[in-house]
Amino acid sequence: MSAPIAIIGTGIAGLSAAQTLHAAGQAVQLFDKSHSSGGRMASKRSDAGALDLGAQYFTARDRRFIDAVQQWQTRGWVAEWTPSLYNFSEGRLSASPDEQVRWVGTPRMSAITRAMLGALPVNFSCRITEVFRGKQHWGLQDAEGQSHGPFSHVIIATPAPQASALLAAAPKLAGAAASVAMEPTWAVALAFASPLETVVEGCFVQDNPLSWLARNRSKPGRDTHMDTWVLHASSSWSKQHLDQPKETVIEQLHGAFAELIGCAVPAPAFSLAHRWLYARPVSSHEWGSLADADLGLYACGDWCLSGRVEGAWLSGQEAAKRLLEHLQ
Ligand code: FAD
Ligand code: NAI
Repeated sequence: MSAPIAIIGTGIAGLSAAQTLHAAGQAVQLFDKSHSSGGRMASKRSDAGALDLGAQYFTARDRRFIDAVQQWQTRGWVAEWTPSLYNFSEGRLSASPDEQVRWVGTPRMSAITRAMLGALPVNFSCRITEVFRGKQHWGLQDAEGQSHGPFSHVIIATPAPQASALLAAAPKLAGAAASVAMEPTWAVALAFASPLETVVEGCFVQDNPLSWLARNRSKPGRDTHMDTWVLHASSSWSKQHLDQPKETVIEQLHGAFAELIGCAVPAPAFSLAHRWLYARPVSSHEWGSLADADLGLYACGDWCLSGRVEGAWLSGQEAAKRLLEHLQ
C-alpha cells in the first residue's frame, strides 16, 4: 500500500479534492488548525442556534458545480434560500429582488463540509508549519513540533498567505501564492429577543461601514427562537478597524445597522464578533490550482479562481484531477 496523500485545510477546497481522490481509491489524510471543518464556511454555535459568520450563501454557475449542488440537495445538505432582498445605496433602502438562485447549507452552512468530510481521516487542532521533502516521500511538521508522514503527495488548501509559507519546497508556486493579497472582513452577529419590525431578510450595502446583512431565520432550517442577524463590514472598514477590540466593532456595526434598517433596533440580547483575516482575494485568477506535478506538491483554494464557494470547490476538483492524471 502506497503512502497516503496529505491535504492541509478542511475548507471546501480541501474537501472537494479529498472526496475526488478518495472516490478514485486514493488514501488521504487531512489536517486543519481549527477544531472542526469548514474554514470560511464554518458556523458558530451560539445561544440562538448556529450562525453562519462566513459565507452567507452561494451561487452555482459552472456545470460541474451545479451538478454537485444538485446531489447535495438530494442528500439534504443544502436548500435554496429565497430572501426578501434589499439594496442600501446613497442613504436609501430599496427592494432589490432578482432571479438568482442562492444556496445555503442546512441546517447550517457548515453542514456541507461536515458531510463531505464524513469518515475521512483528519487531524484537527493541528497547525502545519512546514512541508518538507524526504528522500522519497513528503513529511509535515506541526506547531507542536510533531512530524507527520510519510505522504506520497501534499495538497495545500489554505488561504494564499498561509499557503505561500507551506510551499517553500516549490519556490515558483510559493511566489504565485505570495502574490495574492487577501482582505479581511469583520463579521458581527446580533440576537434580538423580539423580532425587528422589518421585512428585510438580506441586504447588499454600498458606501457604508457595512457591506452585507442577513436575517438568519429567513434561511431554511434555522433556529427561530430569537431574531439573529449577521452583519459584514466592508473590506476597507475592516482594514481600518483590524485591531479594534471586538466590543468596539460590535458597537460601531450595530450603530450602522440601526441607522440603515429603518426600524427601531434595541440593544441585542447577545452579540458576537469574528475577524476573518483572509476573507477574500483582492482579485480573481484563472489558475485552477497550482501544481508541481513532478515534486507531487499542489495548492488549491478560492484564490486560484474566484473568491467564492464555487471557485474554491472547483479549485479542489482541479488539484485532484491534476494529481490523478500524473499518477497514470
Ligand atoms: P478556507 O475555507 O479558508 O479553508 C482553509 C482551511 O485551512 C481552514 O479550515 C483553515 O483552518 C485551514 N488552515 C489554514 N492554515 C493552516 C495550517 N497552517 N495548518 C492547518 N490548517 C490550516 N463565498 C460565497 O460564494 N458567497 C458568500 O456569500 C460568501 N461570503 C463570505 C463572507 C465572509 C465573511 C467570508 C470570510 C467569506 C465569504 N465567502 C463567500 C467566500 C467563501 O467562504 C470562500 O471562498 C470559501 O469558503 C473558501 O474555501 P477554501 O477551502 O478555499 O478556504
Ligand atoms: P451574487 O450574484 O448574489 O452577488 C454578486 C454581487 O452582485 C453582490 O456582491 C452584489 O454586489 C451584487 N448583487 C447581486 N444581487 C443583487 C441584488 N439583488 N441587489 C443588489 N445587488 C446585487 O453572488 P455571487 O456572485 O456568488 O457572490 C457571492 C457573494 O459573496 C457576494 O455578495 C460577495 O460579495 C460575497 N463575498 C463576501 C466575502 C466577504 O469577505 N465579505 C468574501 C467572498 C464573497
